[in-house]
Amino acid sequence: MVFNIALSAFVLALPLLLVDAASTKRSMCSDGRSAAANSACCAVFPVVEDIVDNLFTNECGDSAHGALRLLFHDAIGISPTAGGGGADGSIATFNATELTFPANLGIDDILDDLGPFLLKHSNVLSAGDFIQLAGAVSLVQCPGAPRIPFFMGRPAPVAASPPNLVPQPTDDITTILDRFGSVGFSPAEVVAVVGGSHSVAGADDVVPNFEGVPFDQTPAQFDTQIFVDVLLRGTAFTDGQGAQSGESETAVAGTVRLQSDGLLARDPRTACTWQSFVNQQSKMAQAFGEAVLKLSFLGQNQHELTDCSEVIPQAIALKTGAATFPPGKTVKDIELSCNDAKFPNLRTQPGPATTVSPIPQAVSTSTAAPAS
Ligand code: HEM
Repeated sequence: MVFNIALSAFVLALPLLLVDAASTKRSMCSDGRSAAANSACCAVFPVVEDIVDNLFTNECGDSAHGALRLLFHDAIGISPTAGGGGADGSIATFNATELTFPANLGIDDILDDLGPFLLKHSNVLSAGDFIQLAGAVSLVQCPGAPRIPFFMGRPAPVAASPPNLVPQPTDDITTILDRFGSVGFSPAEVVAVVGGSHSVAGADDVVPNFEGVPFDQTPAQFDTQIFVDVLLRGTAFTDGQGAQSGESETAVAGTVRLQSDGLLARDPRTACTWQSFVNQQSKMAQAFGEAVLKLSFLGQNQHELTDCSEVIPQAIALKTGAATFPPGKTVKDIELSCNDAKFPNLRTQPGPATTVSPIPQAVSTSTAAPAS
């Protein structure tokens, strides 16, 4: 295990938008179209083209969301006491073991979707590299998301992750902060990485009989709306036809809130950071990008990896980034949890209350999961 908590500080110092084309000497790849500082990166451009066109289909949809979730569930599989290889691809290679972990519920669908591409490109990228690449490329399908660096050269995983390392939505905040803290993440970084990722996310297995239930009003764009929606009063999911599960009111019809997100937004240790991201798009994207990059190095020695960041396509700018209150809601509907700062002034969307549509489900290209 190459666990190195000291990596954290080094990683944070890295600029996010990384390869400075003006000062980095790059050579043309044999395809005559791409250029890379390190020729080893040339083989990755066709992989990126394939997954953008055929896996993500140029959308911030279910496959892109799944790739981001997979990046996390692979990387967090490391602990200073229990071991594990971190961002090593073990979740794919040793899926027979890791898919039995309760926190990995739903990862089988994601592997069904991504697995055939991972196998197809296994001559170019290890499983760990492919998962981190797919996660980074998934982000640039989503308007507003940062373009994060990609490093390659992770060796093949040697074993499955130990169990109980992936946080669960039913965990309390102490458990979540301790889990992340044990691999070098501060509470502020936890808020950035969890809140930011759940801005482009939804659940297939949280609300019985409903799939693709978004966590906020805008699951196809990486924005700060989640930091508002999760603070609204009302916790139940409704499909717009009336409340379910005994709750009287939902914050935003059609969305669902994870218990862990609701608690992170309200806990004294994390509430002010949570609120500080409302309408602070670039601050949030920067903090999120740095934290995801840090995840990508868990269990790896960055100095032994090759910087292939130039393979990541340009980020897509957010057109309408301002967070808003849903129709009929105001700051009075917010559960104010941060005593140190006033909640920002937001516009209320005009018109009657609407129901957020489910995220259309990916049709997997194959039912074959990668072999373990
Ligand atoms: C406290 C930590 C976290 C918990 C408890 C948690 C829990 C969950 C749960 C329960 C779901 C719904 C799964 C389903 O029913 O389909 C989900 C979805 C998702 N999570 Fe997290 N998560 C956490 C952190 C993260 C992080 C750090 C990332 C990425 C860096 C991430 C990315 C995602 C994405 C993108 C989805 C949507 C997946 C899809 O639509 O297929 N999560 N998360």
